[in-house]
Amino acid sequence: MTPMIYILNGPNLNLLGRRQPEIYGRETLDDVAAACAAIGAEAGLQTRLLQSNWEGQIVDWIHEAREAAAGIIINPAALTHTSVAVLDALNTFEGPVIEVHISQVHKREAFRHHSYVSHRADAVMAGFGVHGYALAMRHMAHLLG
Ligand code: DQA
Repeated sequence: MTPMIYILNGPNLNLLGRRQPEIYGRETLDDVAAACAAIGAEAGLQTRLLQSNWEGQIVDWIHEAREAAAGIIINPAALTHTSVAVLDALNTFEGPVIEVHISQVHKREAFRHHSYVSHRADAVMAGFGVHGYALAMRHMAHLLG
């Protein structure tokens, strides 16, 4: 069976492309889904991109991934900096976890410099724009290959 990669996105990323484009660019989450699916097709991976503004929904999808996915790519958005619940959920997942941030969080406000999710992530991308998701997909293919 083709391994499945969950690509999880936290609060406000539904507005990607329209939200602060000077920081996050003009590409949408649909563009990200298409780019990741194309890389997945080349690499023999299925992808499922999901977004929620609700912390509990992200936790539920991580639990679902325990059975359904071989790897998780996650942009937790603001939950990165606040959510022990998302970290605890990721700690129950056995496959590779790659954390993605579109912006270079370390050159932004100090409150964006700490990530709970980084305590679990096997790799972290920041500042590559939405291209970071594509790079994460390629690394995921490498890890699972
Ligand atoms: C973000 C960075 C976070 O600090 C912010 O809260 C986001 C998006 C990024 O992709 O650069 O919503 O995760």
